[in-house]
Amino acid sequence: MRLSEKIGKAFTPAGILSVRRGIGRLLHPQPVSKFLRHIPPAAMDAHLAKYGHLMQPGENWAKYLDAARWLKLNIRRAQDLRLDREKRALRILDLGSGAGYFLFVAKQLGHGGMGIDVPHPELYGSMFDTLGLQRVVAPVEAQKPLPDALLADGKFDLVTAFSIEFNKHAPWGMWKAADWDYLLTDLRDRFLNPGGKIYFDLNPNYDGQFMTPDMAEVFQKRGASVDRRSKLTFDPVK
Ligand SMILES: C[S@@+](CC[C@H](N)C(=O)[O-])C[C@H]1O[C@@H](n2cnc3c(N)ncnc32)[C@H](O)[C@@H]1O
Repeated sequence: MRLSEKIGKAFTPAGILSVRRGIGRLLHPQPVSKFLRHIPPAAMDAHLAKYGHLMQPGENWAKYLDAARWLKLNIRRAQDLRLDREKRALRILDLGSGAGYFLFVAKQLGHGGMGIDVPHPELYGSMFDTLGLQRVVAPVEAQKPLPDALLADGKFDLVTAFSIEFNKHAPWGMWKAADWDYLLTDLRDRFLNPGGKIYFDLNPNYDGQFMTPDMAEVFQKRGASVDRRSKLTFDPVK
């Protein structure tokens, strides 16, 4: 990309946000070592002994055995959500919580919460135990309410979903706009505290797009601000 294009991009709203976040990370550094030292090495060694042979150059779930790599990404996610500068302890619900690194980083920064994910692979459950986190084992399903069990300790101040796959139902197709609309209503009406917000960081669909035009319309109608095509903030969700 030419310098003039780079400068032009920096002055779009997404560019300004990205620069602001970059400055935030520079001013408030969060070294990986600060988080890594709270993960019991013996437990990680046991996970590596059990599943390490499944780690491949490609991207299967065993990639989550590389704690430093995933802490780095999730520290950045937490910084971009300003969790490191938040005065209150937030309760966070993480949809499709995987191995739990985001909730773990949030916990080390003084927040609490819960994940939800499917039972397999079992490494995710073992990692939640290792990291001292809580989750509900159940699928997030289109047009179905999320499980009440998530509310065991109360409602949430922030709902997150990073690189989730519950919206992929090959071969039947991706979640439709109406499925997202349903989820947003369920989260707003049953799970969010007053003033609570939602943040989705979507994976691209099979065609490389993050959302179809009708999904974008629903997200806009529900109050989303969109950052860099894939990151949606609902503050608040309408
Ligand atoms: C690419 S991983 C991302 C994990 C985590 N959010 C992260 O960013 O590290 C996708 C996650 O979606 C979860 N998932 C897939 N289908 C799901 C469903 N129906 N309900 C809940 N979670 C689901 C997978 O088990 C996996 O943890």
